[in-house]
Amino acid sequence: MGRKIIYECIDAGSDYCPCYLAETNDCITCSHLQGKDFCDCNWRGVCIFQEYMWNGKKAKLARKNFMGKVLDKEVIGDNLIIFKIAVTKSFARDLKQPGSYVFIRDPNKQEYFDIPMSIMYADDNKGEIHIAVQIIGTKTKTLLSVEDEINIRGPYWNGILGLKELKTLKNANTLIVARGAALAPAVNILKYLVRNNNKITLLMDKGKFDNIFIDDYIDESRILTIDMDIMSDKGKLIIQELIRNNNYDLCFSGGSDVQHKDINEFLKELSPHTRYVVTNNRQICCGEGICGSCSIRIGNKTLKACKSQIEPAYMFEKGEI
Ligand code: FES
Repeated sequence: MGRKIIYECIDAGSDYCPCYLAETNDCITCSHLQGKDFCDCNWRGVCIFQEYMWNGKKAKLARKNFMGKVLDKEVIGDNLIIFKIAVTKSFARDLKQPGSYVFIRDPNKQEYFDIPMSIMYADDNKGEIHIAVQIIGTKTKTLLSVEDEINIRGPYWNGILGLKELKTLKNANTLIVARGAALAPAVNILKYLVRNNNKITLLMDKGKFDNIFIDDYIDESRILTIDMDIMSDKGKLIIQELIRNNNYDLCFSGGSDVQHKDINEFLKELSPHTRYVVTNNRQICCGEGICGSCSIRIGNKTLKACKSQIEPAYMFEKGEI
């Protein structure tokens, strides 16, 4: 018999659960809300079906759009903008979790210009978030003209896969490998790991940018940093040597699926006990499990990757990636 796919809805038990998917019998977690007449979910929080009934058989309120004040906008080279945006303290607190992201857009543009962007840094004392945007296509180019205000929708949390592995880690030894735009979500992860007293080796690759843009966010006294070309033959050898010799408890890969797969192979061979966490690279469009653009086929099941926390190693083994 095949191994059961391990996945959980990122929004289960949150302020946004049950969501629209419950109304159409497409809930990711609850079998009753999938149209079945029995309960076989493995969710251990508040019963989603009961919440749905108490809410008058309706989804809870969806995430709202609001205007964030742009405190600073730094254009770096010809393909990077770093926005610093004022938000409420509670909104910033929601976004301190690794893997957090929001949709942003120029307020003068329509909703289909919404772009999902990782939170690089969230300060809940000041009520401030920092976002790094790679200027790469039509949507991101429109952000060059944003000045005083920016449209925001969120919070969302499924920007990385393997979140539970990361969130249960304390006083452990970790390897963080981040390239290009994935340096941004790596900062939020680093802050989380430092808060939990983990030892960190950070391999940074500027990718298509002129420079490593996260230097100001890294506490060098807590993190061993190495600048390198991760995808080169030499870079891959360095990663293998580090994995072989350091008995890491957790490894994070931020970058392309090719990078994720390479590191997955290194871990399988050299350190099978190491927990693996990766950036979620599926095409996220609505973020709500509605549009299907993020769908991924794993075994005989189709999952919505914007909502589903999937075990990365299994996804690379069995998924159509
Ligand atoms: S992004 Fe729309 S369903 Fe996942």
